[in-house]
Amino acid sequence: MAIQENLTLEEYKKLQEYIYNKSGMFFPVSRKGYIEKRILKRMEALRFDKFSQYFEILRKEILRTEIINLFNVITINETFFFRDLPQLKALKNHIIPELIKNGKTSINILSAGCSSGEEAHSLAIIMRENFPNIRFSVTGIDISDLVIAKAKRAEYSDYAVRFVPKNYFRKYFEKLENGNFKYKDEFKRELFFKKVNLVEFDKADIKKPFDIIFCRYVLIYFDKESKKGVVKSFYNNSTKGGYFIMGNSESLFSVSEDYKMLHFPSAIIYKRRD
Ligand SMILES: C[S@@+](CC[C@H](N)C(=O)[O-])C[C@H]1O[C@@H](n2cnc3c(N)ncnc32)[C@H](O)[C@@H]1O
Repeated sequence: MAIQENLTLEEYKKLQEYIYNKSGMFFPVSRKGYIEKRILKRMEALRFDKFSQYFEILRKEILRTEIINLFNVITINETFFFRDLPQLKALKNHIIPELIKNGKTSINILSAGCSSGEEAHSLAIIMRENFPNIRFSVTGIDISDLVIAKAKRAEYSDYAVRFVPKNYFRKYFEKLENGNFKYKDEFKRELFFKKVNLVEFDKADIKKPFDIIFCRYVLIYFDKESKKGVVKSFYNNSTKGGYFIMGNSESLFSVSEDYKMLHFPSAIIYKRRD
């Protein structure tokens, strides 16, 4: 029998609710085509003709690993090194110097929704190059185990590294035979990657609390209630006066009162109100 080609609206809504409850990501009906294409691939891989069969194994956790596969195919992993440079400049010129001025000798940074690790590695380069006497760690977490494995491997295409400043590029990367670029092992000491679902961030077994939390282009897929929950748990696991950084198009408006907005050249950064 031929594989079902489209999900009915009713089927889509069931799936939408399931994904939302498990991850906080809300894909409106306008994203049906995007999600559908990915679900049909999973059904094909498991040799199911009907969505109802696929949904049954998801819902009843008959194949426990399928939820991982589902997250792997629906998450959008676009990222690259030195993304949104003005925020990184504010980090280097204002945030870190201020933390140091306030007596910090060790700084913990979180890259939440780190995808394949480009953001976390960029942060490690900035810390190493500009604050050689400060101890630091960069923890990258993501719901997708595929991207976490990639972040640990740290091999990147020329597209991903296109904005790495030349002098850093020469120092931190080696060219592989397949044409990709590997972030050198000798610079990985401060980097940690772990699969964590942000909805369960409070329970995550990682080195908390954090002084600076980057969560860029992740919460755009969350509805307001889940956003509020995740931002609250970031707050609960951050240090007094800690910083929170979102993507350019994102804001904490009507999500959290715990942070104030700071303006830097072409960049907005949030800081805990205490
Ligand atoms: C567009 S990428 C952003 C990568 C990086 N933060 C950046 O700005 O370049 C979004 C990432 O968020 C992750 N993500 C989405 N929902 C998540 C959740 N509930 N828990 C953890 N990670 C999640 C996705 O797997 C994806 O890798």
